[in-house]
Amino acid sequence: MPPRKIIIDTDPGQDDAVAILLALASPEEIDVLGITCVAGNVPLELTSKNALKICELAGKSDVKVYAGCDRPLGRALVTAEHVHGKTGLDGPDLPDPTMQLQEQHAVEYIIDTLSRAEDNSVTLCPLGPLTNIATVLQRAPELATKVTQIVLMGGAYFEVGNITPTAEFNIYVDPEAADIVFKSGINLVVMPLDVTHKALVTAARNEAFRALGNPAGIAVAQMTEFFERFDREKYGSDGAPLHDPCVTAYLVRPDLFTGRHINVEIETRSELTMGMTVADWWGVTNRTPNALFIGDLNADGFFTLLTDRLARL
Ligand code: BDR
Ligand code: CA
Repeated sequence: MPPRKIIIDTDPGQDDAVAILLALASPEEIDVLGITCVAGNVPLELTSKNALKICELAGKSDVKVYAGCDRPLGRALVTAEHVHGKTGLDGPDLPDPTMQLQEQHAVEYIIDTLSRAEDNSVTLCPLGPLTNIATVLQRAPELATKVTQIVLMGGAYFEVGNITPTAEFNIYVDPEAADIVFKSGINLVVMPLDVTHKALVTAARNEAFRALGNPAGIAVAQMTEFFERFDREKYGSDGAPLHDPCVTAYLVRPDLFTGRHINVEIETRSELTMGMTVADWWGVTNRTPNALFIGDLNADGFFTLLTDRLARL
């Protein structure tokens, strides 16, 4: 099988960084057409800069990186420095990038790329708020046929919320954008907190990253060390959850994940539960299924894959 052509839409973020490194280290399965950045964990200027740093860390300075929307569709931006640090990528001391951003806006780039693509040929991989993707679908809804699948990190059902009691960060930041994507009719695979909170970097798994001894392995160990303090304090968990790498790992090894094909809708009206992913996990409504909502993964298989691939960089 030829590698899947993907566009990674991201707000790095340490876990976004690991997701990108995994994709760039997996050319047999994944062809990264471009990386588009969005405001989320930190403002756009920083997420874009971080994406460039990650490409250079991977030794892939030929990857094209685009800056996109600097705020949600209709709200003020909420950021997560309390999780990711001031730069969004606190932990390792990565050099300032020498690579430049592409001049084209990320939304224009996605529209251009899809316009030229065959039907069902491009996979979109959003790892942050869905603002860029929703803007594409608003401006050029006819391009939905070019997208074979959207595999995204966002939402929660059993784990409920991490930024509010009922909402996960990526969906909460831009619920109107998420609503557009979940109603788009495009084949969706969703990695909610229910699965990402099972992808925990234990001390032994982090040692395995560090022991690779290459710049990528050492930087990932430093990133997850920084990132884990938040989840240890909040959830008492064993280490940092690698949310976004679930998306790129799914592209390489879908067999590591299990879920249910169900209806998922986004709360956009109630201030109390804004951004909640209302997931009909138990099939108690007649609403049409619109997403493969993942609930579990083979965590050992996931970390073996990740470590093996980081070793290649
Ligand atoms: C999501 O929000 C961000 O903090 C992470 O990068 C991930 O995409 C987890 O809720
Ligand atoms: Ca992210």
